[in-house]
Amino acid sequence: MKTNLEKKLNNFNNKGYVVLDIDKDQIKYLKKIKKNFLTKSRNYLKNSNNLKLENFHKFNFKNNIFLNNFRLKMMTELNKYSDFKQKMYSSISPFLDKCLGPDIIVQKNLNLVIQKPHDTDRAPFHKDAPANSNYELVVWLPLVDCHKSMSMYVFDVNSHDYINNFLKKNVSHQKQEILSKKKGYLPNVKFGQVLVFWSNCFHYIPVNKEDKTRWSINLRYKNLFTKYGTKNLLDFYEILRVSPISNLLNKIEV
Ligand SMILES: [Fe+2]
Repeated sequence: MKTNLEKKLNNFNNKGYVVLDIDKDQIKYLKKIKKNFLTKSRNYLKNSNNLKLENFHKFNFKNNIFLNNFRLKMMTELNKYSDFKQKMYSSISPFLDKCLGPDIIVQKNLNLVIQKPHDTDRAPFHKDAPANSNYELVVWLPLVDCHKSMSMYVFDVNSHDYINNFLKKNVSHQKQEILSKKKGYLPNVKFGQVLVFWSNCFHYIPVNKEDKTRWSINLRYKNLFTKYGTKNLLDFYEILRVSPISNLLNKIEV
């Protein structure tokens, strides 16, 4: 009988994406971050209504610039957690170890996205490679339960060529939406889970039609010795872990 990890790896091998539960210990850590976000947000917005992260759209943001400044402020807060990348790696390490091997690097700056209901301002239908490395895994980590349109469409690697040709035709948003419903996978990803996908998997963010704000973090891991895209090691990544041999090689001139 296959173990849960084997099933997940099998799913990833076939499709290029998988939803994983993160380790319980790291959920405690994430809860602390959420709490800090709440405190900092309430202070920044001078809001005393005890808003939850999910209800941030109820706060009357003056305009999108103000919202974006708020998001950047929170992203700075997030990036103060210097152990975040390591902890998130360990939270799904049995899976990542199998996919990436012993020499691991991670994207330097963590991204935070706050998507209010009905906000049409979002990333276009795209895939991260080849601008990012073809050998990279994207980890999408929601801080609130994301169901239906709060989540994101990810596309099976088997429909890659079809989607690629489709997007070359410069199709309207409406057609992209129809295609997504037909060919995409829109997983429910709860707080405490992550969606992991290969950098060559197309993804599409629908307009959030639920009545909750989505808060999500995204970051990327790759093997140190695999090919890079347009983003180089020193500017874009930091080393998370090296194998014993790489470690020995650091000690001498060869
Ligand atoms: Fe992306």
